[in-house]
Amino acid sequence: MLPKWFNDWNRDNPTNIFGPAILVGALGGAVFVAILLVTWGQPYATTSMQTGPRGTGMSVPEFNVALATPDPTIDAYYTDSPVIPEGGEPLAKDIYQNVQVLGDLTEDNFNRLMLAMTQWVAPDQGCTYCHGDVALEEYGKDDLYTKVVARRMIQMTQNINENWDGHVNAVAEVGVNCYTCHRGENVPSDIWFNITPVNEAAGGWAAVQNRATSLSQFTSLPSNALEVYLTDPDSMVNVHDLESRVAGVPGLTEDVATIQKTEMTYSLMNYFSNSLGVNCVFCHNSRAFYDPSEFTPQWSIAQMGRQMVIEMNVDYLIPLQDTYPPERLGPVYADAPKVACKTCHKGYQRPLQGMNVIADWPELATTGAPVYE
Ligand code: HEC
Ligand code: HEC
Ligand code: HEC
Ligand code: HEC
Repeated sequence: MLPKWFNDWNRDNPTNIFGPAILVGALGGAVFVAILLVTWGQPYATTSMQTGPRGTGMSVPEFNVALATPDPTIDAYYTDSPVIPEGGEPLAKDIYQNVQVLGDLTEDNFNRLMLAMTQWVAPDQGCTYCHGDVALEEYGKDDLYTKVVARRMIQMTQNINENWDGHVNAVAEVGVNCYTCHRGENVPSDIWFNITPVNEAAGGWAAVQNRATSLSQFTSLPSNALEVYLTDPDSMVNVHDLESRVAGVPGLTEDVATIQKTEMTYSLMNYFSNSLGVNCVFCHNSRAFYDPSEFTPQWSIAQMGRQMVIEMNVDYLIPLQDTYPPERLGPVYADAPKVACKTCHKGYQRPLQGMNVIADWPELATTGAPVYE
């Protein structure tokens, strides 16, 4: 095919083609990757949220990719603006037989809320999930546990928005409604039950730890931190002491914390961090975990959150134990399902990334008669 002179010339002048080919290939590859990085950006790039003075390492880094991807449940959120009453409309308590909590709502707003609750909690089953497959006239009956639980849920939601406003509206008006926890599911994600002791082979303290459970954040730390710190109103989280040797016997002398208690605090703090998708310096200056003058504003919001969660568990959720059917109760102690930070936050700094879920729902913002504007 090729002219003879070319074949002769090639035979007389052997050339190493591989060296240059590898060089050109490597250079070309590098240019290609560089072009990709310039056009698409560095996939592992992070942005740091500074939470304290410069140079103290107080920053929470996050992948840009994660920051740019919104919480997928935001898209599925259902809402509807209130029907402003003109005055003089009959109220739910006048129209229906058995409204114990939502009596001051006008018919329009009552139905609007029923529809929304259905979307938030039982979109697949519809009204029948709480009312059963009966005629509308029979909706006053309290035959199903779901309705009895839902009524208490309404009261709990109203209480959170009214009395824990310093937490749920701390940064901006955000609030809480059924969707904050339920996200279109009958049973919200990230609820928890008592499970300790988890280590049947050990007695004493060792029995609550050294087994990776979701309650120990899959570490060897104790699995009972939520049980103690999020259901006992008298529990104290603090363990820090500045003395090199503390007089007294840990555990026996009051205010002398045991190593075990320190581990439990650490287990809770891991839980806090994972629930919000942040690290310790979101709330603390890690050079002095105990020092109030070095806390960030988020520390106080979190501390209030702990008190709020205790109240939700103690006053609302634990007393519902006898109302649930057995399959809804805990695997070990048949205890009621409980909430904690992650039930609302779901790994985000602010639930639903700070979307305002209360503006349209004055009915859920107060324990009294709703105020429409
Ligand atoms: C998540 C549970 C739940 C769902 C789903 C639900 N409801 Fe209700 N419904 C309740 C509760 C709780 C009450 C009682 C409220 C109270 O005591 O203030 C109630 C009360 C009612 C009443 C008043 C009945 C009476 O005579 O006392 C009507 C009417 C009603 N709902 C209609 C509906 C309709 C229509 C739907 C579907 C669009 C629906 N509900 C979906 C929980 C639910
Ligand atoms: C702070 C979180 C939270 C909020 C807010 C919340 N719920 Fe719940 N809800 C729970 C937990 C926890 C359970 C217990 C889970 C279970 O039933 O296994 C539950 C259970 C229920 C159940 C029983 C479901 C079942 O199949 O067992 C209904 C119905 C319900 N909630 C309705 C509501 C309604 C209506 C609202 C809004 C007015 C609401 N919830 C707001 C946390 C919440
Ligand atoms: C969302 C905020 C938040 C995050 C994140 C957080 N903490 Fe805390 N931490 C608190 C609050 C609030 C308290 C006090 C709780 C109380 O007393 O009710 C506390 C208490 C503590 C204490 C006890 C201090 C004392 O006085 O003895 C230690 C130690 C601690 N945290 C360590 C950590 C560590 C380690 C991390 C990271 C793994 C962490 N925290 C992450 C909010 C946070
Ligand atoms: C009933 C739902 C709910 C529960 C449970 C809950 N939070 Fe929150 N939290 C919220 C809402 C809503 C906001 C957003 C407030 C805002 O943006 O104004 C928030 C905000 C915060 C913030 C401030 C975030 C910021 O960007 O400054 C911190 C810190 C926080 N929560 C910590 C906690 C901790 C720790 C717990 C568990 C002890 C907890 N929360 C439990 C609903 C909840």
